[in-house]
Amino acid sequence: MNALEIHKLGKMYNNTKVALLDVSLEVPEGSFFALLGPNGAGKSTLINILADTVRPSSGSISLLGHELFLERAWCKRRMGVVPQEIAFDPFFSPREILRFSRGMYGQKNDDTWVDELLERLELTEHAHKITRQLSGGMRRRLLVAQALVHRPKVVILDEPTAGVDVELRKRLWDFMRELNAAGTTILLTTHYLEEAEELCDHVAIIDQGKVITSQSMQALLGDVASSSLYLRYAHTLQLSSQDRAALAGFYPRINQGQLCLTLNKLGETSNFDQAYQLARQCFGSPLTVTVGQEDLEDVFLRLTGEKKSEKQGGTTG
Ligand SMILES: Nc1ncnc2c1ncn2[C@@H]1O[C@H](COP(=O)(O)OP(=O)(O)OP(=O)(O)O)[C@@H](O)[C@H]1O
Ligand SMILES: [Mg+2]
Repeated sequence: MNALEIHKLGKMYNNTKVALLDVSLEVPEGSFFALLGPNGAGKSTLINILADTVRPSSGSISLLGHELFLERAWCKRRMGVVPQEIAFDPFFSPREILRFSRGMYGQKNDDTWVDELLERLELTEHAHKITRQLSGGMRRRLLVAQALVHRPKVVILDEPTAGVDVELRKRLWDFMRELNAAGTTILLTTHYLEEAEELCDHVAIIDQGKVITSQSMQALLGDVASSSLYLRYAHTLQLSSQDRAALAGFYPRINQGQLCLTLNKLGETSNFDQAYQLARQCFGSPLTVTVGQEDLEDVFLRLTGEKKSEKQGGTTG
């Protein structure tokens, strides 16, 4: 069964701004699903529709086989959502907030679980402070705890690690992995593509309100990924529009400080020489040259970049 089936979901803000256009996605039960997209792609809009804080313009969603818009109460008990925006009553403590939240789902107090959540999200020593006194990273972790307090079957997290330091981020992911291994479906958005690649088994990329691709991570990195040429220079390059035009066939981009160019898929005749010569004409000789399989960030940048060049092509031509 699918944990979520999203069918032709549309959202237009203020009758003018199309944030989602016929978005259809299937999130398999038990999956660890990354919803990726550049700023403004529509990720939070989709998640806020799931959380019932934004009203969709069209479409339907089913959660574990139940219609979300018709069976809200049933669905809410089985779903935990961490929104991107943080808003708490500033005068309650984390422990109080977690207790109330369970009550709101009609569940009895479960101090053992609340304590465990506080512990796992490293909030125990802050459990009695009022939320106004918590740092941004602590509040973000409290949001995660709040979404888990009723032990939902499906957990949806909108940038759960934004503003969380490296060490805690790792532990938060470990916790998510454990929940997933125990059968919880997890859908998250993040801009940390390396982490998404490591954690998630499914991935959807949306851009400008439309789904560009949705498949298993393995299929995306296996079938869609090409080989890439990485050129390191003494300094990080800035790509001018002239450079972009000169290298257009190779989807030029900067990935982790290196110039990255897409070659043909592995196994096909390589166009390495052509890409390398063009790069030299633009920037001179690089310090190092490597060829490798595209990673998630490369695929992401290429696919969302392709969209942009299509659009630019459309407006100029
Ligand atoms: N309340 C609103 N009223 C009008 N337009 C909105 C509203 N909320 C979002 N938008 C617009 O809808 C589009 C999608 O925004 P959304 O917040 O869903 O993107 P996102 O993918 O979550 O981006 P980010 O990665 O920056 O969080 C954007 O163009 C945004 O400006
Ligand atoms: Mg967002």
